[in-house]
Amino acid sequence: MFSYLISVLAVTSILTWGVVGGSPAASTLYLSQTGTQFSINLPSNSSDVYFYFTSPAFSWVAVGPGTKMAGSLMFIMYSSANGLNVTLSPRIATGNTEPTFAKEIQVEALPGTTINNQSFVLNAVCRNCRSWNGGSLDVTSTTQPWMYAFGPTNDITSDSPSAPLRRHRDYGHFQMDMVQATGEGGVPGPSTSMNGASLIGGVIIDGDKASIIHAVLLAFAFLIMFPFNVALVGFFKTAKLHMWFSGLITIFIIIGFALGIYVSGEYNRSKHFDSAHQIFGFIIIAIFIGVAAMGGFQARQHKAAPATSQPSSNGRREPTKLDSTHKWVGRLLWVLGIVNGGLGLQFSDSPMHTQIIYALVTVALALPLAVVYSCIWRKRKVRQDRDEDRDVVLEAYYATQPKPPY
Ligand code: HEM
Ligand code: HEM
Ligand SMILES: *[C@@H]1O[C@H](CO)[C@@H](O)[C@H](O)[C@H]1NC(C)=O
Ligand SMILES: *[C@@H]1O[C@H](CO)[C@@H](O)[C@H](O)[C@H]1NC(C)=O
Ligand SMILES: *[C@@H]1O[C@H](CO)[C@@H](O)[C@H](O)[C@H]1NC(C)=O
Repeated sequence: MFSYLISVLAVTSILTWGVVGGSPAASTLYLSQTGTQFSINLPSNSSDVYFYFTSPAFSWVAVGPGTKMAGSLMFIMYSSANGLNVTLSPRIATGNTEPTFAKEIQVEALPGTTINNQSFVLNAVCRNCRSWNGGSLDVTSTTQPWMYAFGPTNDITSDSPSAPLRRHRDYGHFQMDMVQATGEGGVPGPSTSMNGASLIGGVIIDGDKASIIHAVLLAFAFLIMFPFNVALVGFFKTAKLHMWFSGLITIFIIIGFALGIYVSGEYNRSKHFDSAHQIFGFIIIAIFIGVAAMGGFQARQHKAAPATSQPSSNGRREPTKLDSTHKWVGRLLWVLGIVNGGLGLQFSDSPMHTQIIYALVTVALALPLAVVYSCIWRKRKVRQDRDEDRDVVLEAYYATQPKPPY
């Protein structure tokens, strides 16, 4: 009986609240695949904008009025540093690049904002938010264009409104009825149906392929192709294979470098080319080109003047100072390249498991290489000793022969 009374009271109070308080006018986008809801409210007695935004907690989730990134205001949410609440970051992009925090936008998260069951839940108000530097919201439009985007699955946990983002895993367009959203002000409530909104086109799958190809090409070139190239020199006596393979590595490195430059332009953290990974990368690639040029120069020199370079009896030539520089700088380059790959993974905030796998692969490659190297080195040493003996014999033999008549 008592509990019956309580529930009657509860129902009545909800009804009265509904009548007296009214519910805010709203237009709602609902994406059933992800359970993402974005509802907007435009109070008729102010120029504020209220919104409710919920979505699975990908690294970041964003919406913004407009059809393209450039010049559009975007509301981006990601996890706070302690992982319990949402950091709301208003940003504007200048092109198809990472948007930059727009501190003049007065947007704030309201009570009820939280991360619940791995979903962001955001209640927010943006003051004087119907026009901004570079764009505006057309409150008379019933088909105001909007866009949404989801970040990749890496973690971002930051209280900073300018935390580094990675390019969207996917994005899309929709339109909303701004007239329907205008009326009684307030944060709209949860809903699971479209209302005054519709999708334009489907989800566009994206992702930062250039960054991945940059990493794969350069890591493969330094980690795998470099030592293989040295092994070629050790196992085959001719320099021809080594030259062709070095040419192939150069192609990998140039394409990887070009992609590195392109990717640098996408992100705020990299567009000034002042990170350790990029500066190191420039130096390494400059040295690589130097070493390759040195190698090419040597090869030409040997070809042009084989007689002056004193071939010994088995066609091997005496190592020159240039040779040993080429070798040692090559080895240094190998180590620097591997280290810079690690710096790159850190720079791009790659997941810890990727970094650990990279470190393990490096060790797994370096250990057998050490064995192979020492074998080649010992074999060569034995052969050199033998050659030296033979050279002494040959010299003695030539000394007994009459000089040719020229
Ligand atoms: C690190 C951050 C971001 C980067 C590097 C980035 C980069 C890009 C790039 C390169 C494109 C062109 C894709 C193509 O033509 O294939 C693009 C398109 C797009 N992006 Fe972003 N984006 C970022 C963040 C965002 C955010 C926060 C939104 C918010 C909704 C967004 C929405 C869109 C939309 C709607 C398009 C298609 C229309 C257009 O080309 O502008 N992006 N983005
Ligand atoms: C030895 C040469 C280099 C190696 C081995 C290397 C390797 C890598 C690796 C493994 C990553 C991680 C990528 C990811 O997680 O998706 C990376 C990221 C990156 N690299 Fe390099 N890199 C080199 C040189 C350069 C150079 C010369 C530049 C440009 C000037 C550059 C620009 C970048 C940028 C901007 C990123 C971050 C991409 C992002 O945040 O998604 N790299 N690099
Ligand atoms: C707008 O209306 C709401 C509710 O009717 C009220 O609480 C609020 O103070 C009003 N705001 C302005 C700026 O008049
Ligand atoms: C999250 O932040 C909002 C706005 O600052 C606050 O009102 C709310 O209580 C916070 N929620 C939790 C769970 O800390
Ligand atoms: C948590 O979210 C998942 C999927 O997003 C859903 O299936 C599940 O019912 C939710 N659990 C609760 C307690 O809301």
